Amino acid sequence: MAGLRLHEKRVLMALRMLNGKASVDDVAEKGDLAHAAVMRAALTLSEKGLIRVHEKRWKVAILSQEGEYYAQYGLPERRLLRTLLRLGGEADVDEAAQEAGLDAKMAPIALGWLKRKNWGVIKGKKCALTVNMEPPPTIDEKLLATIFEKRLVKVEDLTEDLKQALEALRKRNLVEIEEKVYRELELTEEGWRIARKGVEIVEEVTQLTPELIVSGHWRNVRLTKFDVTAPGPVVYPGKVHPLQQIIQRAREIFLEMGFTEIRGPLVETAFWNFDALFQPQDHPAREMMDTFYLANPQTGRLPSKRLVEAVAKTHEDGWITGSKGWRYKWSGEEAKKLVLRTHTTAETVKYLATHKKPPIKVFSVDRVYRNEQVTYKHLAEFHQIEGIVVDKKVTLRDLMGTLKTFYTKFGIEKIEFWPSYFPYTEPSAQAVAYHPKLKRWIELCGMGMFRPEVLAPMGIKCPVLAWGGGLERLAMIELGLDDIRMLYANNVGWLRRTPLCR
Ligand code: PHE
Repeated sequence: MAGLRLHEKRVLMALRMLNGKASVDDVAEKGDLAHAAVMRAALTLSEKGLIRVHEKRWKVAILSQEGEYYAQYGLPERRLLRTLLRLGGEADVDEAAQEAGLDAKMAPIALGWLKRKNWGVIKGKKCALTVNMEPPPTIDEKLLATIFEKRLVKVEDLTEDLKQALEALRKRNLVEIEEKVYRELELTEEGWRIARKGVEIVEEVTQLTPELIVSGHWRNVRLTKFDVTAPGPVVYPGKVHPLQQIIQRAREIFLEMGFTEIRGPLVETAFWNFDALFQPQDHPAREMMDTFYLANPQTGRLPSKRLVEAVAKTHEDGWITGSKGWRYKWSGEEAKKLVLRTHTTAETVKYLATHKKPPIKVFSVDRVYRNEQVTYKHLAEFHQIEGIVVDKKVTLRDLMGTLKTFYTKFGIEKIEFWPSYFPYTEPSAQAVAYHPKLKRWIELCGMGMFRPEVLAPMGIKCPVLAWGGGLERLAMIELGLDDIRMLYANNVGWLRRTPLCR
């Protein structure tokens, strides 16, 4: 029959020789094929309607490690019996057990079975035999020996008595019952028709080699036909983590938009993280519950005295900014405290202290820390996307346009700007995006124009557009996740399912 491959033909012919029905193992032997090759051929043959595959499940008994041991050295009761026989038929229980090499755990078990098998009785601390010569193996011992010899026995082949003995051995944890799948192949009528006619078994060539071509031998061989529509094996190539891909994409987009990357340390002084951003020293965000403070070392160095004084004055009474300030006594000690930065805005404001000449367009994609309960939407360690634009005539509209462009490049279309509040911006807003899976708006970033209280101490004379937001939130939308923790869960299934390219 055309369309049959070599292994399929061999299986058909083997089945013919085996009277049309045989186990996979027998077919493998007759057809001189590997077990797996028979199974593969059986699958396609049954699809072609030439054979039927019957699947039978057997319960088989195999020995546990302990069972193996006893099969070789005897059950504990048998060993105790032999010892007692040697000691004259009666002995102190502990002594006999020790003599028989039974430990404290095994001794009572051996005694129990000695009694149950009517080999002996216990009188106080003494044990006396009721037999005066070694009894023949009991049914459970015989079964143990059989399983040991055959490696496994089919449960359904056992007699009722043996089944009971098996159950007793199983309860003693000496045997284990396992399920084995056994497959039998059977020729269908159509299969018989073809097998009876006999199929020509010609070696097939699966690979066309240079030798075959050069020698011209290819004319005489049969080339194996391939089903190019058959599903291939799934391969799981190594790939960049989805979150890392998104970080890379964020960088690319910023670069496309003409921004330059800046980076800073994970550990910052409270000065850069809070004070320089006009966050008062009693601001709730500064508390331990929200911010991780370093235990060792506890403090860092403050920048130039001029800058520190300007920030201090602005906090206290507004300095030259026209603001009234926060009206409290600013503390340098508080500002020196080291924190794990809670936002990358610490880096942008620090950048402004040393880069004052517009135009400036810088960004960062970096790690930040918050002392938060980890939930489906919060992490204690995450990434922020941050950026600033400094130029003579920029407005909030430019900021909205910039962000709209940024997030659209990311593939997020449904984005809105809602009013918000930050101590360091005025006006302030937040960009939100619609999460189709969570069916609600989620915050993408905070944004605004730095207040004069932030800019004056840094010596900046033109408007500064600033924004910062969570990268993982963006990843949730991108990857369709409803739980942010998945990004760090090392869930191999999810990592494999997430496509390399979207
Ligand atoms: N730093 C703010 C945050 O962490 C975001 C922000 C940055 C807001 C810049 C306004 C300006 O949420």
